[in-house]
Amino acid sequence: MSFGAPHRHYSRTDSTNTRARELAAAGAPQGTVVTAAEQTAGRGRQGRVWTAPPGKALLYSAIVRPLGERHLMLPLAAPLAVCDAAEELRPGIECGVKWPNDVQISGRKLAGILVEARPQDGWAVVGIGLNLTVPADEFPPDLRIRAVSLFDPSLGGQGESRRGLPAVAQPGLPLTPQTAAKVLNRHLAHWVEAEPDAVLDAWRQRDALRGREVAWDGGSGVADGVDDRGYLLVVTAGGDRVAVGAGEVHLTRS
Ligand code: BTN
Repeated sequence: MSFGAPHRHYSRTDSTNTRARELAAAGAPQGTVVTAAEQTAGRGRQGRVWTAPPGKALLYSAIVRPLGERHLMLPLAAPLAVCDAAEELRPGIECGVKWPNDVQISGRKLAGILVEARPQDGWAVVGIGLNLTVPADEFPPDLRIRAVSLFDPSLGGQGESRRGLPAVAQPGLPLTPQTAAKVLNRHLAHWVEAEPDAVLDAWRQRDALRGREVAWDGGSGVADGVDDRGYLLVVTAGGDRVAVGAGEVHLTRS
């Protein structure tokens, strides 16, 4: 399995996920990728809006088909691909995943992922928004202290990648979304096909929420990892261990 052929790029579109869904519904093949320099109606999880200044973020949607059993892990596999791509592009940084699939650096959101699946039609679209060179003052005011770009000057790094891969972006050279897309294509191909156990193992190593206080519409407690379905496990004040699914709840505190 590979990603990036065919690749359709828009200088401006409403949402790359919407474009990719249309293509998937029209029969576009596995691995089709849609990118845009700018989105006018970028969508996030839980009905939220996703915004990014033109040309400063990777706005990327990929078609996965046909869907098999292992693709139940897609929402956990996609952030692993983003983490690996980010760490290759900026060696020395370390990414974590905040359940279910926000990619973070030091507790600040680097990337968001919106997986939209049509199991009845056998395809899914994996939408990824990865902040590359967005200056802090260009994030929406409410996100400013919680968001970060891969090339934020305040981040350390630039040393060896933890997997020893060569750095694509050198200090002082601008990282283009096109370069980032190529690196992401490669890591997505690996993680989308990975065995569920490998996805769970890697995800647990990157779990940024473990041990943290969390609350959702129906309760609160301390995050205690994920179960084998990818549900968040939470130990409540009463000592119960409950599992919450990403489709059912959204965290109101974490
Ligand atoms: C989230 O954190 O809520 C998920 C954000 C996902 C944003 C990306 S940007 C590319 C793709 N197109 C969209 O409309 N959304 C996803």
